[in-house]
Amino acid sequence: MSTPSLAALPIRRLTPRDLTACADLSEDRGWPREEHKWSLLLAAGTGYGIDDPDGGLVSACVVTDYGPRERPDLGAIGMVFVAERHARRGVGRRLIRHVVAEMGTTPLTLHATQYGLPLYEELGFKVTGHAEMVRGHFVPSGSEPRVITRPATAEDLTAVLRLDKEVFGADRTHVITRLPAFSDQLRVAEENGRITGYASAWPNMDNHVVGPLIARDTETAKALIASLAAHTDQPLRTDIDVRHEKLLSWLKERGLASIAFNAVMTYGISELPGDWTRRFAPLTVAAG
Ligand SMILES: CC(C)(COP(=O)(O)OP(=O)(O)OC[C@H]1O[C@@H](n2cnc3c(N)ncnc32)[C@H](O)[C@@H]1OP(=O)(O)O)[C@@H](O)C(=O)NCCC(=O)NCCS
Repeated sequence: MSTPSLAALPIRRLTPRDLTACADLSEDRGWPREEHKWSLLLAAGTGYGIDDPDGGLVSACVVTDYGPRERPDLGAIGMVFVAERHARRGVGRRLIRHVVAEMGTTPLTLHATQYGLPLYEELGFKVTGHAEMVRGHFVPSGSEPRVITRPATAEDLTAVLRLDKEVFGADRTHVITRLPAFSDQLRVAEENGRITGYASAWPNMDNHVVGPLIARDTETAKALIASLAAHTDQPLRTDIDVRHEKLLSWLKERGLASIAFNAVMTYGISELPGDWTRRFAPLTVAAG
């Protein structure tokens, strides 16, 4: 039987049942399998993929919508992969074009690697900022901020959702409400009974990823990270908006090292909504 041309293979919606195929695809490109992250995104977002007639996936990506369901405020594209054996044959371009068309007038965002950047630029995405990925064992210095943090409880959820919406600039309820199950730790910072920030640490391969990280100021962000670090033996990984220079230098003084820079891109809007001064790290670069 002859193999149909790649351009003729249908693009379909992925479901949580595609988890293993998605992780296989990550691995095929030399990336970690990241099954825990894929499972969140396939459940909370919309996956798109192309089946390989020879088995597995040719390509996949996930879009997470935020805001009202019928008319989202923002869509975040992530986990864009094309199997190595089909690379550089226009599949990535076709899949992203399809997603952009499906999203209609919804503004889009993504974090681009150096491999994806030329493709997204060609499709009209613009670079609006950068995030620096840092990783390492956090070494406390003994003189950490005095901001009070504690584990979040069910009673905090309403306040966390309100703060998140204000800072992120769109309603992420369907994702944030999954954090207590998805994360190993979810902590809030509090002052005079008011929540001034929150952060989660979730398991990814041999790391704990810190994100989202939302805080009133850098001191609050530091306190949240230090308290998350105090409750894990694993290295921390996080993607900090490079405008938060003070937090980045503080993290590097405490043992985290730079591993990558990703470009933050948007389509249909010139800037991300919300308040970047209080938004330190995304949940994951794959979901905004
Ligand atoms: C990025 C990726 C999805 C592109 O998929 P692809 O199907 O190979 O890309 P396409 O054939 O559609 O190429 C579209 C354009 O992207 C650019 N591009 C793709 N791969 C590239 C590479 N290795 N180096 C430089 N430019 C590249 C080119 O401009 C290309 O156009 P051209 O072939 O006409 O010159 C794929 O390389 C991949 O899975 N990479 C690993 C994971 C990753 O980095 N994902 C991006 C996350 S943002």
